[in-house]
Amino acid sequence: MRAKHRYRAHPSRLLVTALIGVVVASGAAASGWILFPKPTTASTHANPPDTASTSTLPTPPPEAVARPDCRVVPCVALTFDDGPDRVTTSRLLDLLEARRTPATFFVLGHRIAGNEDLLSRMVHLGMEVENHTWDHPNLTHLAPDAVVDQIRRTNEEIVRATGRHPEHLRPPGGNWSPGVTPTDGLTLTTWDVDPRDWFHRNRAAVVQNTLSAVQPGSIVLLHDIHPSTIDAVPEILDGLEARGLAPVTLRELSTSGTLPHE
Ligand code: NI
Repeated sequence: MRAKHRYRAHPSRLLVTALIGVVVASGAAASGWILFPKPTTASTHANPPDTASTSTLPTPPPEAVARPDCRVVPCVALTFDDGPDRVTTSRLLDLLEARRTPATFFVLGHRIAGNEDLLSRMVHLGMEVENHTWDHPNLTHLAPDAVVDQIRRTNEEIVRATGRHPEHLRPPGGNWSPGVTPTDGLTLTTWDVDPRDWFHRNRAAVVQNTLSAVQPGSIVLLHDIHPSTIDAVPEILDGLEARGLAPVTLRELSTSGTLPHE
């Protein structure tokens, strides 16, 4: 009983404590970027984000895409390479938006001019835009400075169109020489599921090949320049949902700490 009295606070003390709590909480919120610093990419990238462009981007509506918690549910990343394309990429974005499904786009730098609105829309919807080089060379055939040029020019175009800096590089064809070919600071990212959509050009084959191979933590390689691939996406999403696999972006997958799941 004595202990109980010892710790009972006078009402006025409670008020003071509450006021201090509010002040501390406000300070923490105001300095949130100090408490939770964002990782800086400035030291590893030649082209820091264009802050002027960033400030003009409207904030994506929170309901644009679903954001499942990969620590709780098994996740997969659908990635689309070789775009953007005015017709097929637009159709894919319509489809993903309607299903609130996030995806990652590995774009080619030379395709961005004239398609800035597509990249801007990707970002506004909550998609990720990453680097697939300027014009799809086999990087193992290029000199190191030519590789860096392929990467940097594409980074510049992505930043110009979206105000966001890429974090991942996917070498065309997966062609890479470990320890030899530079990444210019980007994370090298390939895939574990390849339905060979570029070869089959057939909706049913793409669906079958994807769903038969995908597992928790998978990164699926698709191409948003083939109409048959876009046709396959609704059934792929149905199949993932039936198996309890939640699509997320690559960054969400790679930071989820559940690679591979289970
Ligand atoms: Ni490619």
